[in-house]
Amino acid sequence: MSVHGESVPMTSRRAGPLKGVAEVPGDKSISHRALILGALSVGETKVTGLLEGQDVLDTAKAMRAFGAEVTRHGEGSWSVHGVGVGGFAEPSDVIDCGNSGTGVRLIMGTMATSPITATFTGDASLRKRPMGRVTDPLSLFGARAYGRSGGRLPMTIVGAADPVPVRYVVPVPSAQVKSAVLLAGLNAPGETVVIEKEPTRDHSERMLKGFGATLRFEEVEEGRAIILTGRPELLPQAVAVPRDPSSAAFPVCAALIVDGSEILVPGVSQNPTRNGLYVTLVEMGANIAFENPREEGGEPVADLRVRFSGDLKGIEVPEERAASMIDEYPILSVVAAYAEGTTVMRGVKELRVKESDRIDAMARGLEACGVKIEEDEDTLIVHGMGAGGVPGGATCKTHIDHRIAMSFLVLGLAAKNAVSVDDGSPIATSFPVFEDLMAGLGAEIARG
Ligand code: S3P
Repeated sequence: MSVHGESVPMTSRRAGPLKGVAEVPGDKSISHRALILGALSVGETKVTGLLEGQDVLDTAKAMRAFGAEVTRHGEGSWSVHGVGVGGFAEPSDVIDCGNSGTGVRLIMGTMATSPITATFTGDASLRKRPMGRVTDPLSLFGARAYGRSGGRLPMTIVGAADPVPVRYVVPVPSAQVKSAVLLAGLNAPGETVVIEKEPTRDHSERMLKGFGATLRFEEVEEGRAIILTGRPELLPQAVAVPRDPSSAAFPVCAALIVDGSEILVPGVSQNPTRNGLYVTLVEMGANIAFENPREEGGEPVADLRVRFSGDLKGIEVPEERAASMIDEYPILSVVAAYAEGTTVMRGVKELRVKESDRIDAMARGLEACGVKIEEDEDTLIVHGMGAGGVPGGATCKTHIDHRIAMSFLVLGLAAKNAVSVDDGSPIATSFPVFEDLMAGLGAEIARG
């Protein structure tokens, strides 16, 4: 099954070198947050560079359902007339967040401290994913959640009429959980404290500050505490969304493994909570130059000049780096297949509860393409076959997961035989221009 109900098989094959400039779309995490915080501000928030992937479009639709006015003015250019903190109206219908875990979890958090009820659902992938990780802390505010067994969607959240602030230690490294609690804390009186044992992406903290919320940070026994003062008046902003480092990963990794390639990927975030893949690739011997470092939209960015790297070495990825590259393990495992030696990825069990079980999806597809792997609950190990060494020649299952689809299509660009995916339609959730962008670089990726 696909995002729109119709599967779109796709095939990639080895062709000439990749050349040119790859301008990837806006950051998905930041795009969701810009719409949500815009909806919580009184007045007009202007967003440029918004990712127009289905996940973000579903969040835009949801913000309208809660009473905000959300308007598209042109490509990536949107405005949001918000209703203020605590101003959400009760939606008259079910909120369908499609494929987006970030969308549903952040929106549940946002509405959980208002006296309204909303029912959430999503596609077959999202309906399998655990929501207890957000409804547990939301219940501490006084919200109630009624879902399917295992805390699955569809789920109804009855928002707290008299929310109380909470102190919550996030038990899994998850920016979605952290953000859901912070967003709920906005409409609770007093101070809400969220404690992270390990740092995860900090876009919510950065953007909340940008919209005028009061946040402070303290080192406490359990980790790093983020202390939010409730009931702020959020002020509308102009948000320039930087390009998505998780999307940039696909052309970057493709250029590293396709013989003779040289591409430029401008404006890629080097936020230390997001750049773990790039640090890892450099450790593997990737030829990447980080040119013109600067700030864009409140994020550190650089232009990446990437050249084919025929002597990549397998490495052990430090476990503590996992959160900063959690979405990039699928594409890293593809690069690892073209490295010499073994790449060991430990501490990655969170991958099992993403859009698909990404350890299983990558393991099965790589095996089908002739790559030796090892896995356990929390680990993926890839035995590299060297530059151009992957046999390919298989059809890989994508399990309604955009990153799995794009990873195997990149694998096929350097494999001895073409690689197919059963369904490329989920790519539209995060990277709707993937096919055109890759074709512009000279990649052979075709439907069918
Ligand atoms: C995201 C957080 C991560 C990541 C997801 C986006 C976010 O999920 O995998 O793609 O925008 O907060 P977790 O918080 O579940 O780790």
